[in-house]
Amino acid sequence: MTKHELDLDALRAPLVTALATEHERRSEASLRPATLGEFVGQRDLVGHLNVVLGSARSRAQTLDHLLFAGPPGLGKTSLASIVANEMGAGLRVTSGPVLSRPGDLAALMTDLQDGDVLFIDEIHRMSRAVEEVLYPAMEDRRLDVMIGRGPSARSIRLDLPNFTLIGATTRTGLVAAPLRDRFGFIGQLDLYDADELAHIVERSAALLEVQITTEAAHAIASRSRGTPRVANRLLRRVRDYASYHELTLVNDQVSLDALELFGVDELGLDKIDRRILGLLCGPFAQMPVGLTTLAHACGEEPTTIEEAYEPFLLREGLIVRTPRGRVATERAFSHVGRQSNAPGLF
Ligand SMILES: Nc1ncnc2c1ncn2[C@@H]1O[C@H](COP(=O)(O)OP(=O)(O)O)[C@@H](O)[C@H]1O
Ligand SMILES: [Mg+2]
Repeated sequence: MTKHELDLDALRAPLVTALATEHERRSEASLRPATLGEFVGQRDLVGHLNVVLGSARSRAQTLDHLLFAGPPGLGKTSLASIVANEMGAGLRVTSGPVLSRPGDLAALMTDLQDGDVLFIDEIHRMSRAVEEVLYPAMEDRRLDVMIGRGPSARSIRLDLPNFTLIGATTRTGLVAAPLRDRFGFIGQLDLYDADELAHIVERSAALLEVQITTEAAHAIASRSRGTPRVANRLLRRVRDYASYHELTLVNDQVSLDALELFGVDELGLDKIDRRILGLLCGPFAQMPVGLTTLAHACGEEPTTIEEAYEPFLLREGLIVRTPRGRVATERAFSHVGRQSNAPGLF
């Protein structure tokens, strides 16, 4: 392993949240699997996609519209580019929040080439007006656009080339039913198990030219919160640590020392997670705490706590949500090494 420039931007970013920073989005591309064969795990979904892609290819037809749903960092964007790649199709990428007006979508769609894949990330965050332009486009490949304003406004109809829409969402429940119904296939991505994550870590290590033992790959995997994005990020930090100490092989001791230095514990919690648990097991013990109070006490934005930290704490049974706020569980008390005064509460 050669010494490389330390990436300060990346070091400042939170280590274990599933959301990608802007900086990370650019560096992630190098680790993306390019084919379904390289995509680790999600066996059922990959099996279904092989059938859907294979049959479209053998009939020389444009692929049905696809929706990928699941928590951040599990491979939705990767799958969209794999699908385009496997179909030999062009890929256009946009996202729900970027398409603020129907005209934005119309401009993008009229520019599509025959067979292209249009990927709309965070499709649940599209406005209703944009969604309405999308329906006839998905169904009949036609676009109705309004020209002009007021009494002279008129609608013109444009025919679109064959295209496949791929949508991605972290929240299937927020995708309007009429939109959901227009997808020919909905693929749900689930959290990865430790073996799959270890496989991803080993694959990424090879791409990053990092020598790593199987035990070290497992140590990183088990702290990655079921999420490939987190696994890859932890691997990069472990690599930084090894490179700084001029170590050529990452074994489990090196990876554990590095993760400890970066403040990632054996459950994969970082200092913000532990601050949340510390508050709920300390000053606020036995008292349900509202999101805003918790966020202020942690010095974070409420949306950061809600989207980046809480899902994992809830899933691990470290906190529960009650109608009056968040409460720490027995498991949280024992994780932070404190006694709960009312064990019967949960
Ligand atoms: N099944 C997988 N196999 C290998 N790498 C994966 C897999 N899923 C995700 N990754 C890696 O994790 C990172 C995040 O994946 P991404 O597709 O951007 O997730 P999402 O769009 O769901 O947030 C990418 O760099 C990708 O390399
Ligand atoms: Mg994505």
